[in-house]
Amino acid sequence: MSLVINHVSKSYGAKPVLKDISFAVEPHEFVCILGHSGCGKSTLLNLIAGYLRPDEGTIQVNGMNVSGPSKERGVVFQDHALFPWYSVLDNVAFGPEAQGIPKEDAKRKARQYLKLVGLERYAEQYPSSLSGGMKQRVGIARALAGGPDILLMDEPFGALDILTRDTMRRELQRIWMELRTMVIFITHSISEAIHLGNKVIVMKDGDIAAMYQLDLPFPRSHQDSEFSSLLAEIEAILIEDSVSERIS
Ligand SMILES: Nc1ncnc2c1ncn2[C@@H]1O[C@H](COP(=O)(O)OP(=O)(O)OP(=O)(O)O)[C@@H](O)[C@H]1O
Ligand SMILES: [Mg+2]
Repeated sequence: MSLVINHVSKSYGAKPVLKDISFAVEPHEFVCILGHSGCGKSTLLNLIAGYLRPDEGTIQVNGMNVSGPSKERGVVFQDHALFPWYSVLDNVAFGPEAQGIPKEDAKRKARQYLKLVGLERYAEQYPSSLSGGMKQRVGIARALAGGPDILLMDEPFGALDILTRDTMRRELQRIWMELRTMVIFITHSISEAIHLGNKVIVMKDGDIAAMYQLDLPFPRSHQDSEFSSLLAEIEAILIEDSVSERIS
């Protein structure tokens, strides 16, 4: 399992959004991508998902060029995008069923992933009766039930209150440590990125401003001196960016 982003550029019309981005992800890595609003994070994620095509460069998964969406890449959105007319169980069973797995097997698989995210008791309920954090857990279970090699997450906890967000961060870490699926995780929160990532990529204006390989053990503490000095360093990179934006 590998992901290689090789000299990728992308524009919308005349507006360049990603400028010659390259990086490689090792199997089982948890990659966090940080950056200001509009720097191109979602564009990059959508390219990896196969929803968009690069203007230049290639994206390779297991040595094969990405040419469209695939079940090998599961996506979790900020607004969870659940089907409101399906029960929680049917939302999670949707992917496996669409792959041709018989209904009963798909449901068994769905129950297994609902258990993993701690929601097996809510299988028969509908999304409207769940809290934001619970919906997001269903979104994660749904993406995992498709059996992806890579889990792509675009600010999955962005709409949650801070306490729920902390809980979800711990839950996601627990799930990742259990499954070791490659994760590409976009966030605005520097501390969330340092808590979760093996690799932290800081983007600035369509480019990679810094990339860190972190080998601090999990779970990490923000009181750890390495944690706080990295947080200050990344903050400085991003603040410098917003100050120059304001002046120009
Ligand atoms: N479909 C589109 N057509 C034209 N411009 C677009 C389109 N999608 C995004 N853009 C522009 O491309 C730039 C990068 O957008 P992108 O959504 O990748 O940023 P982002 O880093 O994900 O931001 P945010 O943190 O706010 O989600 C922005 O300036 C945005 O306005
Ligand atoms: Mg975005």
